[in-house]
Amino acid sequence: MNKKWWKESVVYQIYPISFLDTNGDGIGDLRGIMSKLDYLKDLGIDVIWICPIYKSPNHDNGYDISDYQDIMKEFGTMDDFDLLLREAHARGLKIMMDLVLNHTSDEHPWFIESRSSKDNPKRDYYIWRKGKNGGPPNNWESYFSGSVWKYDETTDEYYMHLYSKHQPDLNWENQRVIDGMHEMVEWWLKKGVDGFRFDAIAHIVKAAGLPDGDNPNHLPTVRAYDLFSNLENVHTLLNNLYERVLFHYDIMTVGETSGLGPEQALSYVGDTRNELNMVFQFEHMQLDAASGGSGKWNIRPWNLLELKKVMSNWQTVLHEQGWNANYWCNHDQPRSVSRFGDDTRYRVESAKMLATFIHMLEGTPYIYQGEEIGMTNIAFQSIDDYRDVETLNFYEEQMNEGVPEEKIMQVIWKKSRDNARTPMQWNISEEAGFTKGRPWIRVNSNYALINVEDALKDPDSIYYHYKKLIALRKEHEVIVYGKYELLLADDEEIYVYTRTLGGSRLLVILNFFGNEPELTLPHDLNLDTRELLVSNYPVKGDDDLSQTFRLRPYEARVYMLKA
Ligand code: GLC
Ligand code: CA
Repeated sequence: MNKKWWKESVVYQIYPISFLDTNGDGIGDLRGIMSKLDYLKDLGIDVIWICPIYKSPNHDNGYDISDYQDIMKEFGTMDDFDLLLREAHARGLKIMMDLVLNHTSDEHPWFIESRSSKDNPKRDYYIWRKGKNGGPPNNWESYFSGSVWKYDETTDEYYMHLYSKHQPDLNWENQRVIDGMHEMVEWWLKKGVDGFRFDAIAHIVKAAGLPDGDNPNHLPTVRAYDLFSNLENVHTLLNNLYERVLFHYDIMTVGETSGLGPEQALSYVGDTRNELNMVFQFEHMQLDAASGGSGKWNIRPWNLLELKKVMSNWQTVLHEQGWNANYWCNHDQPRSVSRFGDDTRYRVESAKMLATFIHMLEGTPYIYQGEEIGMTNIAFQSIDDYRDVETLNFYEEQMNEGVPEEKIMQVIWKKSRDNARTPMQWNISEEAGFTKGRPWIRVNSNYALINVEDALKDPDSIYYHYKKLIALRKEHEVIVYGKYELLLADDEEIYVYTRTLGGSRLLVILNFFGNEPELTLPHDLNLDTRELLVSNYPVKGDDDLSQTFRLRPYEARVYMLKA
């Protein structure tokens, strides 16, 4: 058992623009985060992951960085950041930075130089090509719709952008890019930050020769993810970053790596690899998309058997070999209770059940702001209220293809990244207490029902359920290190698993739907010694565990047994 502080920690993710605004400009800021450190400390979390706060023209809310060593002016100053770091540390909280190494902003000085002429010394910091007939150099499609290539008149060539056209991809084959990035990472480490979430890290290497992707449907472009995801050289580069820089600091690292399964993930997070501590996998995020990896907008219903398969596979393959990062939601995904629970009748029960699932797995749990009070998806009637570049590009592309607007909006309501980006709901005052001005994006109108102030007053709230789950992790080693085993694999409604460490066994029982299914537990569980650790309904007398019993809608229970 390889013990580490980051395995025993719980991470809370902050999307700063929507967290708390303290100067009335409608934009969340660092002072806002600072003023809520006690709230976070009280919840019990250990690490705060803050989405990018660097200088940025904000075409993708900070994921387009124009200066890696400065703070976005809307968020505050470097002094504010230093103070935030000190105040967090004074409370025993750690800060994990979100770092974008795959691309910069098109306003980054490197890119401004690079695009200025073909013989500029920084030309080769980015990926410039010219297509054969004057068209784009290959058929790859961007994550945010359209070709990954943008034509630039100044030098009559195209540059590559896997994301928006304002996010040109860096050329990681250039040693000066590598050195520059290493220096910058070290600069933040010397400041005392406690870790990094490496954005889009799977994509920093592209297939040699930039070949066309398969194009079976004769589309103008293709989602050629295999040609720019998780290629072998990514590992060389990460290992190099680790040995030259990261190794010298006691930090935690998590990489964003779409398009891989657990066996492949071990090349990033395997104990012997010296690359990253953990990665965010996407397999469970694709269970409600028809074409697996690519078409997130292509919605289909998810089912529990597939979820069990995916999660069990990650739990099993990584056990004692690497480490998991467990999450339901983040700033790119819909709200978890709307997506995997029931955000109307059983909102409270299902939010607690989903939280129980994540926190009782092996791996570091991540909570996304607002998840701890059960915030829900948004459905703006007009596209004008949406802000996310991915959503807006999708809308435009679909409109151009003649898809009826009503149909497009229905998909956007389910999958838009803005679902998770509406302002944090603090109280019942105007704009949910997020701002005294006009918020950059509209507040979800359900804040009278769902807000922090009310949650703190209600001992049965989702908030206190999270608090309990986090506290349990600190009490019972089996929650952190225990070996996972799936029970009743074929049950379509109930998810049951155990975690075992030494003489302790955790029994986790989760009803994933609104029915009241009967459950029969296997006979080899030692139920006589049981102790109920946490549940989302009162459990007493007749409700207590027997070999066979009926679960209530979205019921979740965790028992401690003897192994
Ligand atoms: C990651 C981020 C996402 C961003 C993209 C480009 O996927 O999580 O928000 O748009 O990278 O940086
Ligand atoms: Ca502000």
